[in-house]
Amino acid sequence: MKVGVVGAGMVGSSAAFALALLGIASEITLVDRNSDLAVAQAEDIAHAVPFHSHTIVQAAGYDGLSGADVVILAAGVSQKPGETRLALLERNAEVFRQVVAEVLKAAPDAILLIATNPVDIMTDITFRLSGLPASRVIGSGTILDSARFRSLLGRHLGISPQSVHAHVLGEHGDSEVLAWSSAQAGSTPVASFAAQIGKPFTDEVIAAIDNGVRNAAYKIINGKGSTYYGIGAGLARIVKAIAGDRRELLSVSAMTRDIVGVTDVALSIPRVIGSAGIVTELIPELNEAEAEALNRSATLLKTTATAVQI
Ligand code: LAC
Repeated sequence: MKVGVVGAGMVGSSAAFALALLGIASEITLVDRNSDLAVAQAEDIAHAVPFHSHTIVQAAGYDGLSGADVVILAAGVSQKPGETRLALLERNAEVFRQVVAEVLKAAPDAILLIATNPVDIMTDITFRLSGLPASRVIGSGTILDSARFRSLLGRHLGISPQSVHAHVLGEHGDSEVLAWSSAQAGSTPVASFAAQIGKPFTDEVIAAIDNGVRNAAYKIINGKGSTYYGIGAGLARIVKAIAGDRRELLSVSAMTRDIVGVTDVALSIPRVIGSAGIVTELIPELNEAEAEALNRSATLLKTTATAVQI
């Protein structure tokens, strides 16, 4: 599988590094307006390949994206300490007005995988700019938030996050919704499992986990300036599902026809991912509070996206 990465900053290069090291892509092409950066990142990643895989890693101009099956869009500015993801919108929408057309000129058949924040709005913008079917315009969405949620649930329950099935829904951002009511440890609701092992989810534990998921990025940004390994691995996971037509259930962002009473909005719900992109979506089971919170998140995203002229 050939993967293009537009934006060779920390997020794009971390995704490329994960793809190369895991051998998910046979070929990776990095593109950046700073060609020296793209070349340096590509060479550095290429030097890691001999230890673990056979991936060809190179830097090129947009024409180097020709034949790409997936193109990751990671170009644009990232959050500064204390800055919300939505605050990046105007600057990154301007970047995408240039980038999307260049990408499709070189790789008209590619699936577009958006990482740039605010990722849900950027997914909406890419959908409108590209004219592609919604199934081929995928935002990383809450795949990382869901991993954070599963990780903190697993730590509380003393089990691997791989055995925890839990989703974060809606905005990849402050209004996201942790779907506690459907979270499972194996086939057991997490609340039942927690009670069984004598570690119930008290209000304090729930608040701590919610904070640990919702504000993870702010904490990391305060410590090291930006996040990139988690999102890089999440992007690689989505590409892995596409490359292998794995039809896996991942929380990703895409245009959603109708969710909790909001229509035509890009947000994250669980979706089945395969070689053609999004195969189908699953409208999650929600309790009343979760449905109300998801409606607030969807309304915020819809209102924000509608205000952006393409
Ligand atoms: C984060 C960035 C990718 O949540 O939004 O780490």
